[in-house]
Amino acid sequence: MINIAIDGHVGSGKSTLARGLAKRLGYHVLDTGAIYRGLACAFRDMGYKNIDDETINSFIKDVKVEIFFENDTQHVVVNGKDYTNWLREEEISVLSSKISPFPMLREKVRHIQRDFAKKYDCIMEGRDIGTVVLPNADYKFFVTASEETRARRRFEQNKEKNHTYDEVLKDLRERDYRDEHREIAPLKPADDSIVIDNTNMDLEQSIEYCLKIIKK
Ligand code: DC
Repeated sequence: MINIAIDGHVGSGKSTLARGLAKRLGYHVLDTGAIYRGLACAFRDMGYKNIDDETINSFIKDVKVEIFFENDTQHVVVNGKDYTNWLREEEISVLSSKISPFPMLREKVRHIQRDFAKKYDCIMEGRDIGTVVLPNADYKFFVTASEETRARRRFEQNKEKNHTYDEVLKDLRERDYRDEHREIAPLKPADDSIVIDNTNMDLEQSIEYCLKIIKK
């Protein structure tokens, strides 16, 4: 199977790039953040409040996660409940970022991710795909853009939520900090990944850039 890893910062456009590339190549795309988000939904639903080793371990040990695709949408089902419609809630963005550093939880997600990569030619998109989940991926990209550009994109995307640009920037900085400073699988480019800074690139340019490298 051909596996392509795409990691990168919040708001870097990595998901859009992954989907665009997958379409052109005819591959599956796995949004791994959605798995952490699905787990955060279940964690909240099951009434857990504390975020510590003991609570996370008791939550994760009996959890069953299923992924399926319908009309280009990736669904995340946890313990039989489809959480797809809740994944993008703001509370879930924050909660997923808080529960994702815990080792037992990451281990569970790692298994799901590796099983997927064994079954399909795929583009897997996340934070630690090139470094931890698929260290032998055929191609690795790390996508980023300036903090201000990423915050501006998020702000434009979520205008209906009535947040100011400064609030969006602050939230993005906090999530970057948590992603980059956690002990396990922190966000960073793999030594052999190709870094794409798309501050001054549009989607089509980023796709073409990756395709050139893949076709080489
Ligand atoms: O990519 P996203 O914003 O949907 O991800 C949600 C959270 O999940 C993010 O705050 C960090 C975590 N995450 C992770 O730790 N590892 C990944 N491979 C993907 C996401």
